[in-house]
Amino acid sequence: MESEKALELVKKQLTDHRYQHTLGVMETAISLAKLYDADEKKAELAAIFHDYAKFRPKEEMKEIILSQGFPRDLLDYNAELWHAPVGSYLVEKEAGVTDPEILAAIRFHTSGRPGMTLLEKIIYLADYIEPGRHFPGVDEVRELARKNLDLALIKSIQNTIIFLLKKNQTVYPDTFYTYNDLLKNRRID
Ligand SMILES: [Fe+2]
Ligand SMILES: [Fe+2]
Repeated sequence: MESEKALELVKKQLTDHRYQHTLGVMETAISLAKLYDADEKKAELAAIFHDYAKFRPKEEMKEIILSQGFPRDLLDYNAELWHAPVGSYLVEKEAGVTDPEILAAIRFHTSGRPGMTLLEKIIYLADYIEPGRHFPGVDEVRELARKNLDLALIKSIQNTIIFLLKKNQTVYPDTFYTYNDLLKNRRID
């Protein structure tokens, strides 16, 4: 699919603010793909579609999680996580995207997962550091992302976990599994 067509489809699903965020994620994902030798076209499409399901009603998201075989325990954790797996399903069903790597990058962009692919890492990180993001620690991760993708991811997950702990919020176990996996297997060259 051409990016113009993808953007047109996504624009209808999002608020203006979220669409601007999506454009930022797209730019960032393309530059990370260049830097780390990933497929730029796939990075672009995954970024465009990553928040496709962000504004679907909670009831619809719940129904899709239960009926499409996504882990049920997602429903016991922050609803912010749901749009990622639900998005991977709807992007295939409604926009006709079938590339499994793109769908996985959408699916795991909130929780991560152990053994993330290069494309999954790029989308996760692009979502975190796109130019419209302003929060403590984001510049440090931006800088790390230019040097070492895994170290940047580790830092961003540390920040996320600490943020949730300080707010007395639960942390989805996959986020810990992702963190541990990256620490054990990181590429530090
Ligand atoms: Fe998202
Ligand atoms: Fe996002």
